[in-house]
Amino acid sequence: MLTTNEIRTAFLDYFASKGHQIVPSSSLVPSNDPTLLFTNAGMVQFKNVFTGQETRPYSRATTAQKVVRAGGKHNDLDNVGYTARHHTFFEMMGNFSFGDYFKPQAIELAWNLITKGFGLPKDKLLVTVYADDEDAAGLWRSIAGLDDSRIIRIPTSDNFWRMGDTGPCGPCSEIFFDHGPDVPGGPPGSPDEDGDRFVEIWNLVFMQYFEDPPGTRSPLPRPSIDTGMGLERFAAIMQGKRDNYDTDTFVALTNASADLTHQAVDGPFKASHRVVADHLRSTAFLIADGVLPAKDGRGYVLRRIMRRAMRHLHMMGTTDPVFYKLLPALIQQMGTAYPELVHGEALIRETMRGEEERFKAMLDRGLHLLDDEKSKLATGAPLPGDVAFRLYDTFGFPLDLTQDALRGSGHDVDVQGFEDAMTIQRQRARAAWTGSGDTAVETIWFEARDKFGASEFLGYSTEQADGEVLAVIAGNAFLPEATIGQEVAILLNQTPFYGESGGQAGDTGFLSAKGLKVAISDTQKKAGDLIVHYGTVTEGVLKPGMAVTATVDHDRRSAIRAHHSATHLLHEAMRRRLGAHVAQKGSLNTPDRLRFDVSQPRPITPEELADIEAEVNHRIRQNAAVTTRSMTPDEAIAEGATALFGEKYGDEVRVVSMGPAEDGKAAWSIELCGGTHVSRTGDIGQFRIVAENGVSAGVRRIEAVAGKAAESLTATNEQRLAQLAGMLKVSVAEAPERLASLLEERRTMERQIANLQRQLATGSVAAAGVEQVGSARLATRNVGETPARELKGLAETILKQGEANVVVLISCADGKGSVVAAVAPDLTEKVDAVALVKAASVAMGGKGGGGRRDMAQAGGPDGQAADAAFAAVRDILKETV
Ligand code: ALA
Repeated sequence: MLTTNEIRTAFLDYFASKGHQIVPSSSLVPSNDPTLLFTNAGMVQFKNVFTGQETRPYSRATTAQKVVRAGGKHNDLDNVGYTARHHTFFEMMGNFSFGDYFKPQAIELAWNLITKGFGLPKDKLLVTVYADDEDAAGLWRSIAGLDDSRIIRIPTSDNFWRMGDTGPCGPCSEIFFDHGPDVPGGPPGSPDEDGDRFVEIWNLVFMQYFEDPPGTRSPLPRPSIDTGMGLERFAAIMQGKRDNYDTDTFVALTNASADLTHQAVDGPFKASHRVVADHLRSTAFLIADGVLPAKDGRGYVLRRIMRRAMRHLHMMGTTDPVFYKLLPALIQQMGTAYPELVHGEALIRETMRGEEERFKAMLDRGLHLLDDEKSKLATGAPLPGDVAFRLYDTFGFPLDLTQDALRGSGHDVDVQGFEDAMTIQRQRARAAWTGSGDTAVETIWFEARDKFGASEFLGYSTEQADGEVLAVIAGNAFLPEATIGQEVAILLNQTPFYGESGGQAGDTGFLSAKGLKVAISDTQKKAGDLIVHYGTVTEGVLKPGMAVTATVDHDRRSAIRAHHSATHLLHEAMRRRLGAHVAQKGSLNTPDRLRFDVSQPRPITPEELADIEAEVNHRIRQNAAVTTRSMTPDEAIAEGATALFGEKYGDEVRVVSMGPAEDGKAAWSIELCGGTHVSRTGDIGQFRIVAENGVSAGVRRIEAVAGKAAESLTATNEQRLAQLAGMLKVSVAEAPERLASLLEERRTMERQIANLQRQLATGSVAAAGVEQVGSARLATRNVGETPARELKGLAETILKQGEANVVVLISCADGKGSVVAAVAPDLTEKVDAVALVKAASVAMGGKGGGGRRDMAQAGGPDGQAADAAFAAVRDILKETV
């Protein structure tokens, strides 16, 4: 008996041997289609190849594709667990021809694989064709030898495949397996076709059309083939089972659920085990593809699936969170084919555990409320919408969980009433919001938020994605279109562009479609969760409703990411080095630098800065994984997350962790953060602190660079060093010593100059001799640029030489004059040095000076007037001695 894993391999190998490229499954989150919630068929990743927009190096491909159908067009959630073949997650195997072969070969390949490769008996098989597809009917007759009784014509949309309202589509032909007359049910197209006797195993789509807008079809450039075989149902047939849940993979999972809950696998909780097994798969695969439980969008579909499984586990008597304990069983079954489960194990486990812990706290109380309310209902009466809303709003019960819980009780939910209650709440929330003051000016954003809902951000996992243009806005108005040169704000339903928030700069890049290009120069967040792209149309005409590819400037985003992740490491390194008082006061992350303000009472010393920088670089070299989970703020803080006191958080926060668990914390750095980050700390490259300053009392600011910016800082510094060394004519290594000796030389020379000046002054005064003025022997000297502070010493020296008994020196620095007068002790009775310098100062435009009778100093603005100053001194002497 072939296992499910063997069947998958056999299918892919068969088509590989027929010239098909084996292509890995794409993500469950379609990045190439804004209209799809989840990848819902194998052809989704090839959508643009079918339309000719994209080319690949092969024209034949085969895949086993992860598919989620829950919410949206193919919604299977309600039935899952209660039927033999419904799943939220399944694998679709398929072969594809992109304008290569068409109907005849597609039919031949499929028929040979099923009958020869897998050995299914021909008499157990029958096919359907689209009502008017004579071509296909003829081929089945000639290739497979089927007679007309086994070729059923179906006139309905059941035999026309489309992935959504728009996109490639075409008529199909399906292959059915007949379980035999002892199983109830009729052939396809008959009134009891929903029975279990005839099971569709393979859908061959003759991809011929492109539909857009809905209802308008045009032929595809080249007719192509898309096929889909559900692995689970095919495995059931190959393993002789009538029920997908009886195949090897599901038996392993339902058994694990039975072991965990101690409830028999086929007992009263049979359906619950199946719900758990199915939901375990979609939960793990969605989280592995980057979806986290959330309040809306894809995250809400995931949450609904998770909570539905958790309620079933709860019903089976588990009290602690247990869902995550089933993950190893899934990884054992599917981890080889899908290594993302192995890589993402920690993230998946922690996300599952967190979600269940949170939900468990409310589940019991919610179920009590539901029981109470149910007992009040008349037989068959629906549960009032406001009760369902209360369960949703207060206890976190998604509507379908309430519906599931009421299953079999004879009651359903007043869905309209539920929706009305929801609308009223939304209106109230909006009123509270717009009333909040400063943001009220930009009312258009609130209007847009109401009309279109939140923008879905895809940029945690991708930098390019398709989105639908919801609105083109300029000023305070919605525009029907924007043409070349126009600057507009653009809303998409989903986008990889990060809207500036939390200190992280908004992305730049471009939007494009055939004949259209819009350069995006900034992205901002508005009205809480709208992502607004600001840009200029550079080609074509932009209109609401268009599908565009949004491409983020990769280099710039990488640089921002490196700075943002470095900020988290910096924050933790500062807390550890400086103390727990360090709290974030502000943060800015751009492609070129980061700025981080923290509470810190005193300047951070150079040693501390060096330690902090070294610690951050050490953490970078550790190259630890950076993980992201979503949880309540309380849970995050309990894990040791660094949160801002007094900051308002929603019920759901993103928690970014880096580094190994340490000191009772789940990781070295844990922060609440909505930004984008590197995937391993090593991606930051390097980190350099550039400056540390005070910004206000008790707040210090660090400026730093990371990644490429750090690299260029280092390069610039090296260049400067080399320049210095070049000027010093030594190697960089010898430069400090050389500079030190140069500075020492300079000090020596300064001393020598001063001495020389002194010698020059005293020598020349001596040479100039003295003049007799009255009874005084006067020595005057203009000492040029000699520093003023040296004049007194010089005057004393000259006086001591004994030839003069009055010495007057004048120097001139920067145009200003300084004068010193010294008088020998025997003359101070008659001559006052203060009077002398005063007269000299006045002559130089000054106001006199001060000192003692034997030594005084003064100055004047006009240093050129030395001769006049000396003359004034002589006049005084003539009068007094
Ligand atoms: N795309 C086709 C399907 O999903 C094959 O059935």
